[in-house]
Amino acid sequence: MSEYILYFVSFAFLHLRMHHQLIYVFLSLSSPVVSQNLVTDNVSVVEGEMAIISCRVKDNDDSVIQLLNPNRQTIYFRDMRPLKDARFQLVNFSENELRVSLSNVSLSDEGRYVCQLYTDPPQEAYADITVLIPPGNPIIEARDEVLSEGNETEMTCTAMSSKPAATIRWMKGDKELPGKPRVELTYDKMYTVTSRLTFTVSKEDDGVPVVCIVDHPAVKDFQAQKYLEVQYKPEVKIVVEFPQGLTREGENLELTCKAKGKPQPQRVSWVKVDDDVPSHAVITGADLYIENLNKSYNGTYRCMASNAVGESFDDYILYVYDAPTTTPKPTTATTTTTTIITTMSYPEANQVLLSIHIEFAFALLSDSRAGEGAPRTVDHAVIGGVVAVVVFAMLCLLIVLGRYFARHKGTYFTHEAKGADDAADADTAIINAEGGHTNSDEKKEYYI
Ligand SMILES: *[C@@H]1O[C@H](CO)[C@@H](O)[C@H](O)[C@H]1NC(C)=O
Ligand SMILES: *[C@@H]1O[C@H](CO)[C@@H](O)[C@H](O)[C@H]1NC(C)=O
Ligand SMILES: *[C@@H]1O[C@H](CO)[C@@H](O)[C@H](O)[C@H]1NC(C)=O
Ligand SMILES: *[C@@H]1O[C@H](CO)[C@@H](O)[C@H](O)[C@H]1NC(C)=O
Ligand SMILES: *[C@@H]1O[C@H](CO)[C@@H](O)[C@H](O)[C@H]1NC(C)=O
Ligand SMILES: *[C@@H]1O[C@H](CO)[C@@H](O)[C@H](O)[C@H]1NC(C)=O
Repeated sequence: MSEYILYFVSFAFLHLRMHHQLIYVFLSLSSPVVSQNLVTDNVSVVEGEMAIISCRVKDNDDSVIQLLNPNRQTIYFRDMRPLKDARFQLVNFSENELRVSLSNVSLSDEGRYVCQLYTDPPQEAYADITVLIPPGNPIIEARDEVLSEGNETEMTCTAMSSKPAATIRWMKGDKELPGKPRVELTYDKMYTVTSRLTFTVSKEDDGVPVVCIVDHPAVKDFQAQKYLEVQYKPEVKIVVEFPQGLTREGENLELTCKAKGKPQPQRVSWVKVDDDVPSHAVITGADLYIENLNKSYNGTYRCMASNAVGESFDDYILYVYDAPTTTPKPTTATTTTTTIITTMSYPEANQVLLSIHIEFAFALLSDSRAGEGAPRTVDHAVIGGVVAVVVFAMLCLLIVLGRYFARHKGTYFTHEAKGADDAADADTAIINAEGGHTNSDEKKEYYI
C-alpha cells in the first residue's frame, strides 16, 4: 500500500519538478520492502542455550510459511522438518505462526534466518541470530602486593574470550574509578578485554576492596575483587594522663605517647626540643613522667615514632604555672532565684509587687530549708544579687508609679493654678486656662 502511495507521490512530484527526477526514483527504490503481513524478530542467545525463532503472519490467506537457515536450506516447511538437525523443534504451528526452537546453540548457528510466505510475490522477513559468548571469570592482577601511602599503584583486570567484547568498570570502595581498556580480537573471533587502573594510594585505602566489574549481555554480577593493603607512617598523639588541670609548680606530669602505623612502630622516643629532658624525668615505653614540676622545665616535649614508611611526631608544650594558692571554693546557687525574676514580667504593677514579696519570702524560706537538709551551699552573693535586683525593680516600679500619679495630680494643679489667678470662681478659671474653650466642659467634670 505505502509503496503505491510513495510511487504516486513520487510520480506527482516527477511531473512537477522534472529536473529532480533521479532523486525521486532513487527514493522510491530504496524504501524497504515492508512485508506488512510477515513479521519476525532478531534473536540474541547465549551459547549452549535455546533460541526461539518465530515467524508470524497477519491475515494469512492459507499461504504456506517456511523457515530457512542462513544457507537457505529449509528448516521447517509448515510443520514438517526436512532438515535432519534435531536441535530444531516445532514449538507452535498455526495459521498465523510458525515457532521453532533451536537448542544448544553454537557460534556456527549465527546468521540470518529467513521466514518466507508463499504469496505472490513471495514475502520474506529476516531473523538475525546472534550468539553471545560469556567471558571467562575476570582476573585481577596487582603490580604491588603491599602499598605505601602516597605511592601510585597499578592493577589490571582481564575478561577473556567473549562475544561481543565485555566492558570493565572499576570500583574502589563505593567510588567508581576510570580504567584504561584494551580490546584484543583473538583468532577465533573472540574478544579479550584488559583494563588498567592506576591510582595514588592513601592511608584510608587500607582494607578497602577494589572491584573489577565485567558487563556483558551474557552474564550478570560478574566481578572480581582484591583488598588493598596499605602501609602508612605512624600517627602520633600525646595524651596528658596527669594532671587533669593546670600544670603547676610542684605537681607531677605524666604524658603518654600513642603511635599507630602500618607496620606498627616498634618503639617511640621522647625528646625535648632545643634542650635536654629534665634529668630526673622517667621514660618507660611510651610514658614520660616528670615529678615535682619546676618552671625551668618549660618547653616543647616531642614524641617521635617511625616505621618502614616514615617518621612522625607530636609536640606537647609544657608551661609551668605558679603553685596553687588556697582560694575559697565557689558555691552553687539555688534554683528559686529564677522564679523571682520570671514573676517580674507580670504587667500589673501591684501584682508584681505582691508576688515579689511572696516569692522572695518563699525563696528565703526554701534556701534555709535546703541548708538544713543536704550539705548544699548557698551563695550569699547570689542571694544578695537577687535582693538587689528585686529592690531595684521595686524602686523602679515605685518611681514609675510615683511619676504616674504625680503627673496626673500635677495636671490638676496646673490647670487650677493658671486659671485661678485672674478668675472669680473655678469655672471661669478653667475657661481662662490654656486648654481653651473646647476642653472646658470635659475639664469641668473633674471638679464635680
Ligand atoms: C535485526 O538486526 C539487523 C542487524 O543484524 C538489523 O539491521 C535489523 O534492523 C534488526 N531487525 C529488527 C527487527 O530489530
Ligand atoms: C500457539 O499459538 C496460538 C496462537 O498464537 C496460541 O493460542 C497457542 O496457545 C500456542 N500454543 C503453544 C503450545 O504455545
Ligand atoms: C552441544 O553442542 C556441542 C557442540 O556444539 C556438543 O559438544 C555438546 O555435547 C552439545 N550438548 C548437548 C547437551 O547437546
Ligand atoms: C614509594 O614511592 C617512593 C618514591 O615516590 C619510593 O622511593 C618508594 O620505594 C615507593 N614505595 C614502594 C613500596 O613502592
Ligand atoms: C627549680 O629549679 C631550680 C634549678 O633548676 C631550683 O633552683 C629551684 O629551687 C627549683 N624550684 C622548685 C620550686 O623546685
Ligand atoms: C616558665 O613559664 C613561666 C610561666 O608560668 C614563666 O614565669 C617562667 O619564666 C618560664 N620559665 C622558663 C625557664 O622559661
